[in-house]
Amino acid sequence: MACTIYKPDPASLSYLASVLSTGGLVALPTETVYGLAGNALDKQALRSIFEVKGRPLIDPLIVHVLGVVEAQQLAHWGPMADRLAQAFWPGPLTLVLPKKPCVPDLATAGQPSVALRAPAHPLFREILALAQVPLAAPSANPFGYISPSCAEHVVTSLGNRLEHVLDGGPCDWGLESTIVSLLDPEKPVILRHGPIPPEAIAEALGCELHLKDTATASDKEAQIAPGMLSRHYSPHCHTYLVKNQENTPQGARPAARVCLARPLEIPDEAGVQYFWLSESGDLQEAARELYQLLRKLDQPPWKAIYLELAPETGIGHALNDRIRRAASCSP
Ligand code: TXA
Ligand code: MG
Repeated sequence: MACTIYKPDPASLSYLASVLSTGGLVALPTETVYGLAGNALDKQALRSIFEVKGRPLIDPLIVHVLGVVEAQQLAHWGPMADRLAQAFWPGPLTLVLPKKPCVPDLATAGQPSVALRAPAHPLFREILALAQVPLAAPSANPFGYISPSCAEHVVTSLGNRLEHVLDGGPCDWGLESTIVSLLDPEKPVILRHGPIPPEAIAEALGCELHLKDTATASDKEAQIAPGMLSRHYSPHCHTYLVKNQENTPQGARPAARVCLARPLEIPDEAGVQYFWLSESGDLQEAARELYQLLRKLDQPPWKAIYLELAPETGIGHALNDRIRRAASCSP
């Protein structure tokens, strides 16, 4: 299958919107990562998304809409959803709410809830407006692999299974959206860390937040704290979590770093090259760099990746979550 990469000119946008509204799939940029989009109300399109990604049907999809009015057609809305949407939509926040019957079971893995997000990326929004359908869009990577933060990543890992990719340049955040479940209005739960930190969610809601203990989620159940398999976003090569060191051969250590070495040994200086996620310790920059760098290093001549954690504040929660998952298969 030949894969075409489109520049975002008006003719391409309206063509791609028509592909989507007639049941086809298109990889689209969002402000978090690239998504593999299809009509969320079309069962055949949903089936194709799972097939192209090699994704198990128990892992439900995020449905993208323009805003609150469109979200209310798909889910039972409430005051908590209103507060969060006011504060963070359009943007990198996904809300899990009780679904309405029009949402196909395939999109939700048979659960009575649906995950909804109004993305901020102008190209995604333009496509939503033109296609006039809600768009289911998981990250546009093979299941379990590192999410794509630029069009080239999509083409490299899915180009032989996908016909259309819209190139909107690199993603602003580079990590997937924060997911909050509002299924129990008394007890909002963060299901996945993302660019909107827990502090900001708690402040907007004016109440205490709960965190899903992802360590207990079984990889076989429908993913209600979902998609949260302990190993995810993972490079193919051995990836280890190592203790942060104060100093390196290249000087004092910035906030987060990735380093490399020979396989199955803790690095000694001769075999190691250090890569900073952010030289200045800017966590947002570190988050944006993480997937770019993991993909770059997940190929020869590099044999293993050693990762350090970042300070657990702001987007550091999400950054560390992805670092731990990338490294959780270490022998
Ligand atoms: O930033 C993002 O969220 C990106 C862009 C493309 O929007 N999308 C993304 O989708 O990360 P995906 O499929 O890679 O992750 C979706 C997560 C999954 O882990 C899934 O289990 C969870 O959302 N999810 C979907 N529906 C759910 C539901 N009804 N209840 C709980 N979790 C749900
Ligand atoms: Mg994903």
